[in-house]
Amino acid sequence: MKKYWLGIESSCDETACAIVSPDLMVLANPLYSQIKEHNKFGGVVPEIAARAHLEKINPIAQKAFEQAQINPEQIQAIAYTCGPGLMGPLLVGASFAKGLAVDLGIPAYGINHLEGHLAAAHLSHPDLDAPYLSLTVSGGHTELVMVEPQFKYSLIGRTRDDAAGEAFDKCGKLLGLDYPAGSQVSKLAATGNRKFVRFPRAFHKQDHGEFSFSGLKTSVLRYTQTHSPEFIQENLNHICASLEEAIVSVLVEKSIWALKKTKAHTLVVGGGVSANGHLRTQLQKYCDKNQLRLAMPALEFCTDNGAMIAAAAILRQRQNLLPTLSKVSAWMPLAK
Ligand code: KG4
Ligand code: ZN
Repeated sequence: MKKYWLGIESSCDETACAIVSPDLMVLANPLYSQIKEHNKFGGVVPEIAARAHLEKINPIAQKAFEQAQINPEQIQAIAYTCGPGLMGPLLVGASFAKGLAVDLGIPAYGINHLEGHLAAAHLSHPDLDAPYLSLTVSGGHTELVMVEPQFKYSLIGRTRDDAAGEAFDKCGKLLGLDYPAGSQVSKLAATGNRKFVRFPRAFHKQDHGEFSFSGLKTSVLRYTQTHSPEFIQENLNHICASLEEAIVSVLVEKSIWALKKTKAHTLVVGGGVSANGHLRTQLQKYCDKNQLRLAMPALEFCTDNGAMIAAAAILRQRQNLLPTLSKVSAWMPLAK
């Protein structure tokens, strides 16, 4: 009987489960997005998120089994996100994973969410291998990390305040867009003039790999206070294009700085913001021109999903480096 991995992601506002084969084929990757539940509050409300995960995790896991056309006995192990993330939501995923693992008599492994985002690129690039430089850009994180063989990480630089996704979301909110605003800013930007407003780029041309986006937020706030709502509305595509340019140009500039500094030949990008078309095109241009390899996840694996969590566990298992502490063993015989 062929065996598979079940990947569970519940660190923020997506309840996601996936069935993935040991050779990284994704058989099913359903998720429930809680966006509508958080929309009216303009951001994720942790308590609401935890309750929604509790409600949806079982139906989403069942959906994964149905879509993959396998039964739970065909699962060899479970991988779940153990952090970083919101405490309540993480607890729901971990409890579900451990409960199911004990019931099925299989192990459950806690996986770092950021490692999951990097593993997402491996789903589309199965031959990808460390060492490589990574850029993780999500709603909660923005960091450049050198990944060495055997999952050894060294931090090159990270944001001192807001994350890139957070900058998209918060600036988008100031412009009247719904949460999460990243993909809407990007859609509007497609028809806009990127030079319409010159928003600030923190640490521009400075010799380090750190980021800062809080000043950009203040600048967009000032812009909305000094221009009429009608003007903002009429020029929303140009303002969004200028905002996207301010964020993306810094991400690209610092990635180039880090590629030169580390002399890495490969850049791996992960996290929700890696779905951004402008970022993808700009990085591709630079890497092509400089004969560097660029590995990005397919669009469906950029934002939070269960497949990336399973993939991270599979990559670790291949090197015998699964986290043993999270392995669940039944402490008493369980009634079936
Ligand atoms: O990785 P993710 O799903 O969740 C976290 O781990 O945070 O990332 C979500 C973030 C949000 O801030 C969202 O606005 C952003 O990714 N995002 C985008 C795009 N799609 C999602 N930002 C810019 N352009 C996009 N196309
Ligand atoms: Zn994420």
